[in-house]
Amino acid sequence: MNPLRLIATALCCVAIVFGGLTFPSNAQLNPFFYSQTCPQLHYIVYQILFKVAKTDPRMPASLIRLHFHDCFVQGCDASVLLNKTDTIVTEQEAFPNINSLRGLDIINQIKTAVESACPNKVSCADILTLSAGISSVLTGGPGWLVPLGRRDSLTANQTLANQNLPGPSFSLTELKSAFADQGLTTLDLVSLSGAHTFGRSRCFLFSDRLYNFSNTGKPDPTLDPAYLLVLQNQCPQNGPGDNRVNFDPTTPDILDKNYYSNLQDKKGLLQSDQELFSTPGADTTAIVDSFANNQKAFFKNFRKSMIKMGNIGVLTGKQGEIRKQCNFVNTKKKSSELDIAAVTSTESFEGGVVSSI
Ligand code: HEM
Repeated sequence: MNPLRLIATALCCVAIVFGGLTFPSNAQLNPFFYSQTCPQLHYIVYQILFKVAKTDPRMPASLIRLHFHDCFVQGCDASVLLNKTDTIVTEQEAFPNINSLRGLDIINQIKTAVESACPNKVSCADILTLSAGISSVLTGGPGWLVPLGRRDSLTANQTLANQNLPGPSFSLTELKSAFADQGLTTLDLVSLSGAHTFGRSRCFLFSDRLYNFSNTGKPDPTLDPAYLLVLQNQCPQNGPGDNRVNFDPTTPDILDKNYYSNLQDKKGLLQSDQELFSTPGADTTAIVDSFANNQKAFFKNFRKSMIKMGNIGVLTGKQGEIRKQCNFVNTKKKSSELDIAAVTSTESFEGGVVSSI
């Protein structure tokens, strides 16, 4: 058997074992949603990401972040993928996303491959969610059965992106509240922040911590002094600000529990990271300790919280649409075309065997 196919098959088995523990998660989503209409889906996504990760080891992190930035803004509906047009005010130009979103082209590449195998069947929201799940496995993280059956939005919301996405200088109270707004708990916050175990951040997003924390003229006292020097070296004062620094100085491209031991060592990169461990009396400190001591516990909770995040505000059934291109909503058919379409439509079959319609 082709080694890639073998890996993909193994991945599915692993995912079934692990995913079974946390399924069902959302009555309308189902990991086998495309088993009739696009049985090759997992293999196609896995194969492309496997290749991409070899040449661009940061990409799995970027895709997990893209999924998070989708889900926190009107749900996991691929709204973040929509480009600016006359009618779309794109989320890609919201402050947390400007010059910061990676992976849009990879999602398009996957969509093209999926369309040629199973035209008009698989939503961009599902492709993005599945890509995030497979990115976890490809970087040493846990696997799970990704619930599927999302549909794509007809709209984007830049205002909501600016409002809902948490900022790097958020206090613990602000972080908890941003997550609670999405139906996510403190445990979800700590588990999902573990995604900062890989990927990069630009200097200007945390450089206040290095030179002038809270207008004190001094560095953040919760930063380890040796790590402070390393960061000051990578992010010179009054420098350009867009240098990129690894979130995890120990294993920069691996999804592991080191994020939590870094926090214990006062080596959290963003203020929002270190807050989870260093806020006096916080209930999050014990969770950080438990994950730092036990990767299994972290993986179990990460898997659970990723599935939960993937369920936020999903469109199902006849809601939204299956986009033909992930960056644009489908063009509306003229009424004469609609009449013909009504006769030949296969839309009721779009949901596959386990359609929720
Ligand atoms: C808890 C609140 C969070 C805050 C304040 C936050 C903030 C940030 C910031 C400022 C960056 C750097 C962006 C840049 O340099 O342009 C970043 C990167 C990243 N974030 Fe978060 N984030 C949070 C939660 C999450 C969650 C929930 C996930 C996913 C489950 C996530 C995954 C990532 C990843 C993987 C990167 C690196 C992406 C790359 O290298 O392309 N973050 N985050």
